[in-house]
Amino acid sequence: MEKIIDENKQGDTLILEPQEGNNRKLFIESYGCAMNFSDSEIVASILATAGFNTTQNLEDADLVLVNTCSIRDKAEQTVRKRLEKYNAVKRDINPKMKVGVLGCMAERLKTKFLEEEKIVDLVVGPDAYKDLPNLLAEVDEGRDAINVILSKEETYGDISPVRLNSNGVTAFVSITRGCDNMCTFCVVPFTRGRERSRDPQSIIEEINNLWNRGFKEITLLGQNVDSYLWYGGGLKKDFEKASDFEKATAVTFSNLLELCAKTQPKMRIRFSTSNPQDLTLDVVETMAKYHNICNHIHLPVQSGSNRILKEMNRLHTREEYMALIDNIRRIIPNCAISQDMIVGFPTETEADFQDTVSLMDYVKYNFGYMFTYSERPGTMAQRKMVDDVPEEVKKRRLQDIVDLQREHSEIRTKEHLNTIVEVLVEKESKKSNTQWSGRTPQNIVAVFPKEHYKVGDFVNVKVTDCTSATLIGDAVGYSENN
Ligand code: SAH
Ligand code: F3S
Repeated sequence: MEKIIDENKQGDTLILEPQEGNNRKLFIESYGCAMNFSDSEIVASILATAGFNTTQNLEDADLVLVNTCSIRDKAEQTVRKRLEKYNAVKRDINPKMKVGVLGCMAERLKTKFLEEEKIVDLVVGPDAYKDLPNLLAEVDEGRDAINVILSKEETYGDISPVRLNSNGVTAFVSITRGCDNMCTFCVVPFTRGRERSRDPQSIIEEINNLWNRGFKEITLLGQNVDSYLWYGGGLKKDFEKASDFEKATAVTFSNLLELCAKTQPKMRIRFSTSNPQDLTLDVVETMAKYHNICNHIHLPVQSGSNRILKEMNRLHTREEYMALIDNIRRIIPNCAISQDMIVGFPTETEADFQDTVSLMDYVKYNFGYMFTYSERPGTMAQRKMVDDVPEEVKKRRLQDIVDLQREHSEIRTKEHLNTIVEVLVEKESKKSNTQWSGRTPQNIVAVFPKEHYKVGDFVNVKVTDCTSATLIGDAVGYSENN
């Protein structure tokens, strides 16, 4: 199920139920990570209170917002191409249309955006979305508007996000914002600021609300969820300065996970992403204790070479990572584990690359996301190292591990042949309108004939066949979770 994210396709456009009385039209499009999709839902909620309904038709829009990604150069190029498209629509069809850039590129480029891209009227960073109504008032008066201030506090905990383009079954719930890890290749700490956690009370309220509206699965989101720490608000790095009472009553990620699992015992709970240096065994033990916490950990390692891990400022060794994998498998024998890998990081030799290959052979991940290194302005790697691995070498190494991952995924899906798995039905299968598609707790896609089952049902499925990414089977009844 390895997937190289296709950064060339149009981003998903988002649509929400029309609000009566709103007469301006918002076209909002998102690129990049799950956090961006979740943020766009927050933005649409904020703008619903400022007179906007969403539209899926770019040509009708009064306001076009693009939520952008800076993680690799290609992601930024995709957004530049979209801006050209908006420009053409504005020039030829809809001259009154206003255009705003949100997200990581807004934060990275700031006022440069207004200079470089004449089409852009509005630039808003990831912590400034509540200021959108004020900024739009400035744009309405004919001025360019910008707010890229990063915050110590903002978690949007008090905003109840509308669910855009939702299947009504699965939803993202963000729990931390920002990242303090400073991996040397990564632009996120610069674009999303320092790490802060959201009030657990507001997280629980959001989950209860989702359950009451029929949702059956949530994914707790953060750049580094295991580092979640609530002590009454503020930055993670300021925890040392908290009072004794705040320290004694602090909520860690495993506490939060337990709280979510207990509060909604039938809601499936997932989380993403875990950085190996911050994933503690109490989290794995909490997963083992609660049936409704899914047995899957996305555990990006980036490289199997100790020298490269050090250059990347990943604060663990290959051996520590392998010990963590062993511990996860000891506590939860059937836990699915997935990866992110970067090939062609500066100075990566063939021997370093072979360490990545041998680590993959050791873990045999269920699936993964693999990338060639893309130098990002302002990061430590860009400032201190030369991007010296030739493009064709990067591409060859990428292809090698994509092929290897396909073999491993196939081994992993085959383990399910002739077993019964629980599938939460999400939608019609893309390949057949007589089949449902859903996922198992291990996050593997499964398809089976629809019969009388419905979207949102938990169904036991007997697996009769599989591909490297998908289980194929027949329903044998509702699961006890239903
Ligand atoms: N902790 C984050 C990581 C965000 S970036 C999370 O929530 O997933 C997602 C993945 O993109 C990283 O794990 C890494 O594999 C890849 N990535 C990040 N910066 C990159 C770069 N400069 N070049 C290539 N890939 C990169
Ligand atoms: Fe980026 Fe490393 Fe944080 S990959 S998001 S700096 S954990």
